[in-house]
Amino acid sequence: MLNIALFVSGRGSNLHAIIEKVSSKKICICALISDRKDCLAVKFAVSKNIPVYFVSNNEIEGFITYNILIEELKRKSVGLIVLAGFLKKIPDHFVDAFENMIINIHPALLPKYGGSGMYGMNVHKSVFEANERISGATVHFVDKIYDHGNIIFQESVDILNANNPEEVAEIVLRIEHKILPMIVEKFADGKISFINNRVFIKE
Ligand code: GAR
Repeated sequence: MLNIALFVSGRGSNLHAIIEKVSSKKICICALISDRKDCLAVKFAVSKNIPVYFVSNNEIEGFITYNILIEELKRKSVGLIVLAGFLKKIPDHFVDAFENMIINIHPALLPKYGGSGMYGMNVHKSVFEANERISGATVHFVDKIYDHGNIIFQESVDILNANNPEEVAEIVLRIEHKILPMIVEKFADGKISFINNRVFIKE
């Protein structure tokens, strides 16, 4: 059983996809962390009795610091941290505390359309305005630079028939819901290794 912590900022459709597609015999979502108290993902987690934590870089009432969060996640023996639509940058000391244990889903084919400011609809608007025929989703390790860590898996999709950025987002989201649970399950099965800066995925 792999203990997972998920970071979210929004509606939480990737959280739903993981819960629906990865067997609860393989993973336990033992913490949901958010920077937003009122987002849909938090409401859903509360309804499912998943422990919820609010995190901030600043000391704000009702929020814990990243240092406290590190202690809490270590205490829970978390083996994988998934950024599933978390829109804030993870501080360096948190990345150091969980080296090669943090993954992110990005709604484009990195290294294109990544970096600071490239999140959510901003990504799809840029892709649409550039008249791209293909977009996709990327699951990658998180390092100290935005959208930069080693790529674990990508899948591309034809967006030629999309009439606007919203339609691009819809098409790409279907890919996200397929590849993120698949990769989480591979981690749970011990089928992902990271050797000499290269990612290997076993069948
Ligand atoms: C997803 O499309 C995810 O790829 C994106 O936020 C959305 C969250 O949706 N993440 C980023 O843009 C990170 N750079 P969800 O809350 O429904 O899972």
